[in-house]
Formats: sequence, structure tokens, C-alpha cells
Amino acid sequence: PFPLRANGVGGRTMTAAERAWAELAALAAAPGASAIRPLFAADPARFARFHREGAGLLLDFSKTSISEAVLAALLALARATGVEAARDAMARGEPVNVTERRAALHMALRGPLPGAGAAAHAEAMEVLARMRAFTEAVHRGDIRGATNQRFDTVLNIGIGGSDLGPVMVCRALWRAGDPMRPIHLANVDGHGWEAVLPQLDARRTLVLVASKTFTTQETMANAHLVRRWMEASVGKNGASAHFAALSTNLAATTAFGIGEDRVFPFRDWVGGRFSLWSAIGLSLALSLGWDRFAALLEGARAMDAHFLAAPLADNLPVLLALTECWHVNGLGLHRRAVLPYDERLRRLPAHLQQLEMESLGKGVTLAGAPVSHATGPVVFGEPGTNAQHSFMQLVHQGPRPVPVDFILVARPDHGHAENHRILLANGLAQAEALLMGREAAAVEAEMRAAGLPEAEIARLLPHRVFPGDRPSVTILLPRLDAHHLGALIALYEHKVAVLGALWGINPFDQWGVELGKVMAAPILRELEAGHVGAHDSSTAGLMQALLRLQAE
Ligand code: F6P
Repeated sequence: PFPLRANGVGGRTMTAAERAWAELAALAAAPGASAIRPLFAADPARFARFHREGAGLLLDFSKTSISEAVLAALLALARATGVEAARDAMARGEPVNVTERRAALHMALRGPLPGAGAAAHAEAMEVLARMRAFTEAVHRGDIRGATNQRFDTVLNIGIGGSDLGPVMVCRALWRAGDPMRPIHLANVDGHGWEAVLPQLDARRTLVLVASKTFTTQETMANAHLVRRWMEASVGKNGASAHFAALSTNLAATTAFGIGEDRVFPFRDWVGGRFSLWSAIGLSLALSLGWDRFAALLEGARAMDAHFLAAPLADNLPVLLALTECWHVNGLGLHRRAVLPYDERLRRLPAHLQQLEMESLGKGVTLAGAPVSHATGPVVFGEPGTNAQHSFMQLVHQGPRPVPVDFILVARPDHGHAENHRILLANGLAQAEALLMGREAAAVEAEMRAAGLPEAEIARLLPHRVFPGDRPSVTILLPRLDAHHLGALIALYEHKVAVLGALWGINPFDQWGVELGKVMAAPILRELEAGHVGAHDSSTAGLMQALLRLQAE
């Protein structure tokens, strides 16, 4: 799994990074490298040694097979691969997104930065000030719809980064009684629109067309669909009072007919999956209120400050990234589950899927050479405890371990203390069960005590053993408020940047999403014309079958 196994490369001296990878490879190849229980047995203070706090969050990575030696080697790798230099270059606004020749300055959206980041921050503050003025005017009723009614609903039309972050935050923080009701429309599937339509009163609905490029097919199709609906409801002239745009493409927003005063811009140095802090977050400000949007940014800023200043060995995003590196490259574990034990975080796995897999699903280095080691794992997840009753079987007893991120919140925002205790007990128990497992002797004794016949014990034993030594990290939040949610999201953003540096890949581009978009165009034309062109026989056969079924 590591790029190097030998102690030299073609006779030349190894670089520091090559030496660090080789050192890790040796540690990963050592017997018992994936064992966790012995580490706890040998060190009663393991939790104390392998957890850290920062920006109000606690990260426990003790339930992994990272020993002091492995941690030292991982930190050496971080230094040798230039993690600090990459972080600082990102903060200074250097074009770290080399394939698009762009900076990755999402930190400038939430706090001051040095170098080019300073100007970016000043500009971001101007847009934030406009967003605030607009939000407060809508809430006061100074900005109203065409029929002079106050807006009570914000409909955000966008997809990917222009949807997932805002949706995830709304699900986490929005409560009945908050300033406006948020509704998000992403999929071009007309059933999505049909599902939200009954919840909408056009006269009271403010529509945000959220698209960095303002060319995304699904978003533009939905924007036109919704505009036709709005025009039918409030008239052609009135409809424009109901629209605003969140985009970097001012020419396209103008062409769509949204006036400049209703366009909230951002720059190409904000990646889609890092954009919820920018104008793309307007649906959050409108639905949650300005103060909570500001608190979200503040929380992220606290994590930025921690990321920029804390030594590598105490740096939460760095440690989270190094843990993933150990699992992926050291132990060959190419999947990870995210289990927030908080129903409000139910869309966090979806957000992390884009953030991590679009960023780290890369097969070539910054220089364009094929990577010689694995990169981003498959990420999936569900809230606990629901996940326990679906895929956790595989995580406990499947042949390959799946590292898990458990996210626990100490204090709920409801008064059902017993439910919350049950929730937390289950989260803690899952992590403990993955670690400790259940050995054959214990299972056997249990079945014997229950009076099972010997033949039955022998038959069931292999099915009831839990191998244990299955890794997880736990992230604790004191509360799920805007501040701590901001810090949590920023933790994962920075983890992605650190992994990009470790793996020598560009975590800020996404060329892999382009080909399918391009190939959809001729297929769309052919489906419209009812004529199947030149394709592989599977695609052609499926198109013919679809056309036939549609004609029936
Ligand atoms: O298709 C992927 C992608 O480009 C994402 O990176 C992005 O978040 C999403 O599409 C939406 O793009 P836009 O905001 O330009 O509509």
C-alpha cells in the first residue's frame, strides 16, 4: 500500500518523504500492526495520550492501532511532504489548485488572512455585508414579493456544493419559528419539484438560484422551471421580485434576468464543496437568521485559527488526516463510515461524501504522474442509532474492517434526557464493541450458561464471534449549535487539504465530474429526436428499450 518498500530508489538517496513513507511501510508490515487492544492493555493512559482538543471539539483517536512510533512516523511524513508549507500557501492565497490555476481561499470567507488572502477577506466581507442587509430587509418585510406579501419561505435551487452544505446546515440548525422556512431543490428529476411544490406559496417564496458557474444543467433547468411557475403565479413582471442569484458568473446571471442588486457574488477561489460560507450560504442566513449564520462562520474561523497555529502533533485536522492515511495506506482500508449520533446531522455524510470524495478521489499527482499509493476512501454514513440496524453488521463482522467516525453531542436541545442517554450509550458502545470484539471463549461460555447443547454451540460459535481491533475515531461536540457545527465542518475541510498534501494530489479540482456531463449532451439530443446514434451496444440497447417503453 505504500509507494516504497525498499530503502533506496534506483541507487539515488531517498528524499525525506520517501524515507517517511518507507518508515511507515515498515511499521505497517510489522506483526500486529492493526491490533488495538494490546495498545490499551499496555498503556492505561492511552486515551489521555491519544486525544486532543481544539476550537471547542474533542478528537479521540486512541481506538486506532496508531502507537507512539506510528504517530511519530506519521508526523514525520506530514513534515516531509510539506503539510505546513501547503497549509500556509493555501492561507496566503497562492494558486494551490494548480490545474485550474486558482487559490483555495475559503478561509478568507470567515477571517483575515495574510498575503493575497487579505484582499480576498476584505472582498468577502463586502459581500457578507450586502447579504446581511438583504437578509435583514427581507426579515423586516422591507423587501417583499410582487403581491406585497412578506416572504416566509426561501427556495434554494442548486446542486453539489451549491446544495449539500446549505442543506446539511439547515437540517442541523433550523427549528420551527426561525425566520424563514428553507426548501432546497437539487435534482433535475421532476419528482423532486413535484415533492416540494405543495409546500410552496409563490407569493411568499423567495427563490435563490445558487450556482457557482451558472451553467450547471440541472440547476438551470430547475431555475427555468421555477421561473415559469413563478410567472404563472405572480405575473411575468412580478416574478423578478422573487429571484436572487448566488454565483461567480455575473454575465450569466444578467442573461437569466436577475438584476445586479439581487446577485450575491463570490470568486473562483471558493471551491463548490467549500462554499457554504460564501454567498452560497444565503439560504442559511435567511432561514436561520443572520446571527446564527455569523456564529457558523465564527466556529469555522476558530478551527481555522487552530489549524494555522497548533503544532502538527496537536492539530486536529492534521491528526484526523494522519489517522486516515494510516488506515488507507498502512492498513489498506479503503472505506470509511461516518456515524453522527445526532439526527440533526443526518445530511453530514452526504456533505462529506462530496467534500472528501470529490477532493481526494484522484489518481494522479500534482505533476500529473500516476499516484503510487491509494488516495481517498469511499465515504458513507447514516445517523446512529439507525445505522446500527442497517450496515453495522458488516462493520462489526465483515472480513475487512471499516474505520468509523463517531460524532457525539454532549448536550441535546430537547428535554428528553432518557432518549439522549440511550443515544450516547449506543454510540459509545458501538465504538467499544468494534474495539473489544467478543472472543470465542466468552461467546462459548455465554451459550453454555444459556444451556445450549454442545453441537449447537459448535455450530453457532463462528457466527457469534466478533474479531474486535476495529478502528474508529470519536469527535465530541459540547452542543450542536452554529458555532460548533462551523468548527466541525472546517475540521473536515482542513483534513481534506492535509491529505491532499500528504498524497501529493490536488484536492481542489474535480475534472472527474466532467466527462459524464459532456456525454449526456448527445444522448439528450438523441432521446429528444427518438433516434439512437453510435454508442456501445449496452448504451444503445438501453436507449432503444427506454424509447420503446416510453412509446407504449
Ligand atoms: O458536478 C460537480 C460540481 O461541479 C461540483 O463541484 C459543484 O459543487 C456542483 O457541480 C455545482 O456546480 P455549480 O455551483 O457551478 O452549479
